Amino acid sequence: MKIAVVGATGLVGTEILKVLAERNFPVTEIIPVASEKSIGKQVEFKGKQFTVVGYEDAIKMKPAVAIFSAGGSSSLALAPLFAEAGIPVIDNSSAWRMDPTKKLVVPEVNANVITAEDKIIANPNCSTIQMVVVMKPLHDKYKIKRVVVSTYQSVTGTGKAAVDQLFAERVGDDSVKKVYPHKIDLNVLPHIDVFLDNGYTKEEMKMVNETKKIMGDDSIAVTATTVRIPTVGGHSEAVNIEFENDFDLDEVRRLLSETEGVIVQDDVKNFVYPMPINSHGKDEVFVGRIRRDESQANTLNLWVVADNLRKGAATNAVQIAEYMLKANLL
Ligand SMILES: NC(=O)c1ccc[n+]([C@@H]2O[C@H](COP(=O)([O-])OP(=O)(O)OC[C@H]3O[C@@H](n4cnc5c(N)ncnc54)[C@H](OP(=O)(O)O)[C@@H]3O)[C@@H](O)[C@H]2O)c1
Repeated sequence: MKIAVVGATGLVGTEILKVLAERNFPVTEIIPVASEKSIGKQVEFKGKQFTVVGYEDAIKMKPAVAIFSAGGSSSLALAPLFAEAGIPVIDNSSAWRMDPTKKLVVPEVNANVITAEDKIIANPNCSTIQMVVVMKPLHDKYKIKRVVVSTYQSVTGTGKAAVDQLFAERVGDDSVKKVYPHKIDLNVLPHIDVFLDNGYTKEEMKMVNETKKIMGDDSIAVTATTVRIPTVGGHSEAVNIEFENDFDLDEVRRLLSETEGVIVQDDVKNFVYPMPINSHGKDEVFVGRIRRDESQANTLNLWVVADNLRKGAATNAVQIAEYMLKANLL
């Protein structure tokens, strides 16, 4: 099967190539696509070199699916061209996520919404994906009323230039281009994406709106504070969930440990809890610090960690392709 990876030279695109190889997706040929400046460069997949081409050549090569991680404006311009040529697109940018005509998919939660008519399928925001994977089994059992989430997000969520800023600051190099308005090394920024009129950031509102759409339930109230911290890889979240019904902590642990794609790490006596450094290169969502919120009835506190470039982006996109393949949609 020919697979186009649009944005193949970027942080997420590189991870998509790794995930396709590791999960043995039935690839016969990779068609790497990037911006004009990268055309002709080589990209490695399973020990073989593939040459980066422009989007027009990629469409002519008729891939079975195109996985996009090339930013919102490229996606708005290019995804419809692939779709019109009959090539399904799985898109990592925010361009299509809240379009009511497009499906927003986390396979463990709502893969079944995809139909043969869907030619552009959106991959949610990284911080939302890891949260809904954990919410879904708990919502099914206890019905979620409200979620309060605070995130601790890695600089890899911003792209390669942000990683360069962090390491340059660490060695006192002022010459590198700054992608954040303040120093990020040894600092914490309560600011991800742009500020909106309501005082929230766009990242915070993505968590609110995308969660309702993926869970298929507008009654779930969500409020978020999204924060950038100087870690390189792995987003962490403190998640407070209020349910309609009461729960039993052992049952919560059991439900989560039986959930596909979730690993429970919760043994505080032995200092076992999820940490971003241990999530690197992993496809699962890790959950720990599972405890009752003693200040309010039917309310649970969790600590949720995942590799934002894997489950938060590349893995989720490849899992959508795997589902479509199994459902004869590719
Ligand atoms: N980082 C994350 O945790 C994360 C998580 C979820 C979703 N995403 C989304 O994934 C996308 C990529 O993020 P990233 O972190 O990988 O960014 P990145 O490292 O800056 O990579 C961007 C990629 O897009 C390519 N590109 C840019 N303009 C293009 C165009 N006009 N046509 C074709 N390719 C073009 C770039 O090619 P060149 O190398 O030629 O410039 C590069 O391959 C963004 O939409 C981002 O919001 C990122």
